[in-house]
Amino acid sequence: MRDDTQDQPAAPDSGTDSTQRFLDDVLDGLARSPAQLWPKYFYDEAGSQLFDRICELPEYYPTRTEMAILERSGPALGERLGPRVLLIEPGSGSSAKVGLVLQHLQSPAGYVPVEISGEHMHASLGPLREQFPALPVHPVCADFTQPFSLPEGIPEHRSAVIFFPGSTIGNFPPEEAARLLGRFRGLLDTHGGLLLGVDRRKDAEILKAAYNDAAGVTAEFNLNLLRRMQRELGAKLDPKGFRHQAVWNDAESRIEMHLVSQGRQHIAVGGRSFQFDPDDRIVTEYSYKYSDGGIRDVAARAGFDVTDGWTDERRWFNVLYLTPSTV
Ligand code: AVJ
Repeated sequence: MRDDTQDQPAAPDSGTDSTQRFLDDVLDGLARSPAQLWPKYFYDEAGSQLFDRICELPEYYPTRTEMAILERSGPALGERLGPRVLLIEPGSGSSAKVGLVLQHLQSPAGYVPVEISGEHMHASLGPLREQFPALPVHPVCADFTQPFSLPEGIPEHRSAVIFFPGSTIGNFPPEEAARLLGRFRGLLDTHGGLLLGVDRRKDAEILKAAYNDAAGVTAEFNLNLLRRMQRELGAKLDPKGFRHQAVWNDAESRIEMHLVSQGRQHIAVGGRSFQFDPDDRIVTEYSYKYSDGGIRDVAARAGFDVTDGWTDERRWFNVLYLTPSTV
């Protein structure tokens, strides 16, 4: 079943290409008002490790809540998706959650992880291959925020299902989220579906605590973005000149991660210099929290109906099954 020649991801972007794109995005973002950096750049080696630690924090409920839903509702979910599913996972990272779905699928046809960091992906597929030795795996090395296509030679399947867990969708403002899901829709035929993890709106204190943890791991995660700019772009800046703060923006229904300038200072990068006054902020991440109606609207704009859903006892997180709209 397993064919190693097809398991090799395409060569990752050359260092210079991805560094240039990082620099371009930093220069574009810092020129905005307020200054902005993109959350996809959190996840270098150090940042990925910090994120793994975030997932273990007592205050950070999303990961363990979603995993509990997948465990508890796995049989119902497997029933709903049906046999011979090809699972496609954009932003698969270390592929830590997909096993929770695969174990409930009847004769899964294959797994297509889509990950920007080819090396990271290849290394982390080991445990999955051990758990599912007969499962064909066809990795794609791509940035899922850009258009990508499915690889040649994917196994025959009854339906393709895109697995997009972790409330990663929350990183995108609703307009962009609808566009992203619309592109996912374009990869599917009418028999396909989208299994989507969505963090729900809830008490602001719970949300703020989840992104301002007592141990300061989220602060390290946020500040690592500045350190990454130092390491990879040779940026001249003082990470200690900034402090982490996560705020709840109720009108926009999102957590905002900020880096707050502690005084007047400059960031010099790529031959440019950006000034920050006391309390000036760099916005590093949005994490939108959805009402059931809110995510239904985004889904509808992307050409999906929400046809099934599973939640936890506290109703803090939703795992939704979206299928192509029938009209
Ligand atoms: C990976 C985007 C779902 O928004 O909760 C965790 C990232 N940022 N703590 C989230 C994150 C700060 C996370 N997502």
